[in-house]
Amino acid sequence: MENITTQVWQLHPNHPDQQIIEKAAAIIKAGGLVAFPTETVYGLGAHGLSSEAVAKIYCAKGRPSDNPLILHVANLQMAVGLSRQLPTAAKLLMETFWPGPLTLVVPGVAEIPREVTGGLDTVAIRMPDHPVALALISAAGIPIAAPSANKSGKPSPTTADHVRTDLAGCIDALLDAGPAGVGLESTVLDLTGAVPVILRPGGVTYEQLKQVLPKVIIDPSVLGEKLPKNQAPRSPGMKYKHYAPTAPMILFTGVPQRVREKLAAHLKELATQGKRVGILASKENIHYYPGEAIVLPLGTRENPATAAASLFELLRQFDKLQVDTILAEGLDTKGIGLAVMNRLQRAATEIVEC
Ligand code: TXA
Ligand code: MG
Repeated sequence: MENITTQVWQLHPNHPDQQIIEKAAAIIKAGGLVAFPTETVYGLGAHGLSSEAVAKIYCAKGRPSDNPLILHVANLQMAVGLSRQLPTAAKLLMETFWPGPLTLVVPGVAEIPREVTGGLDTVAIRMPDHPVALALISAAGIPIAAPSANKSGKPSPTTADHVRTDLAGCIDALLDAGPAGVGLESTVLDLTGAVPVILRPGGVTYEQLKQVLPKVIIDPSVLGEKLPKNQAPRSPGMKYKHYAPTAPMILFTGVPQRVREKLAAHLKELATQGKRVGILASKENIHYYPGEAIVLPLGTRENPATAAASLFELLRQFDKLQVDTILAEGLDTKGIGLAVMNRLQRAATEIVEC
């Protein structure tokens, strides 16, 4: 990847400077790459209807090109224009959850480049709930294709600093408006079948969707169930390893007390081997683990949103701390806990059921 100068612009998250927005939108319209904040994570944006522009995203991220991208819109009209046939549930979901962390997979129009859909005849669309993102899309006047702005396989970026670490020199501009709020990516909901299917849990929870939809299914792969041999995953992104810190990570799931005991026993063994161990534990539990480990608090069990907001930052901290192994506690899958557990499972090299 050639080395280009990445311009970094600081913006107020709620009142972005329109001149900077116009400069960034001009880069997008001209086929360049701009990283921008959303309410979930930072996105790496390109002109969503230009094959050449979108191809640059794959190059900058080092991402496999069969993994499709989300088109970000600033209003309902833009979304309607991208779908061949909007499923009946789509309108209700848009009215209820947009702008917000819900991505809808719907039949796509033919004009959407293959580079966006990965060759599928569906398209993923979302309206982000962030003033900077909405201003940028509006100023560009076109849907913006944007994956998370990290190198492929690394944890998604929740701050501009994370984006800089991964992509400086590979993108034209970075809009820095402080940390993203939710901390995990949007929920991806497939509306192309008879019953809506959650392909990726995220900021809008299963429980919230249940309140407005008569039926909604969670794809079995979300919590690690293996697909039958030869069956392609419905969301191509699900087959790739993700969110991985540099060190191997062992995830302990099940009954909380047994999780603590098994994790502590594992720590003891690694410590006697002279290993530098990082532990990811809920605030309620950090005092269980002895001082030789580096223990980082993954929010509270009581409020899983705090775990969601800190998870990716903590995985990156373990990289900086150069630990040899990470031991992580699982948490309850209620609410946004399901999304946190999904990311932990996908980041883990080994899962120990306790
Ligand atoms: O919160 C988010 O969704 C962030 C911000 C930047 O908006 N974006 C994001 O994009 O997480 P990305 O590319 O990292 O993840 C997109 C997910 C992938 O798992 C991909 O496989 C799935 O959406 N996806 C995209 N188009 C699809 C389609 N047509 N059918 C099924 N899954 C699709
Ligand atoms: Mg991603």
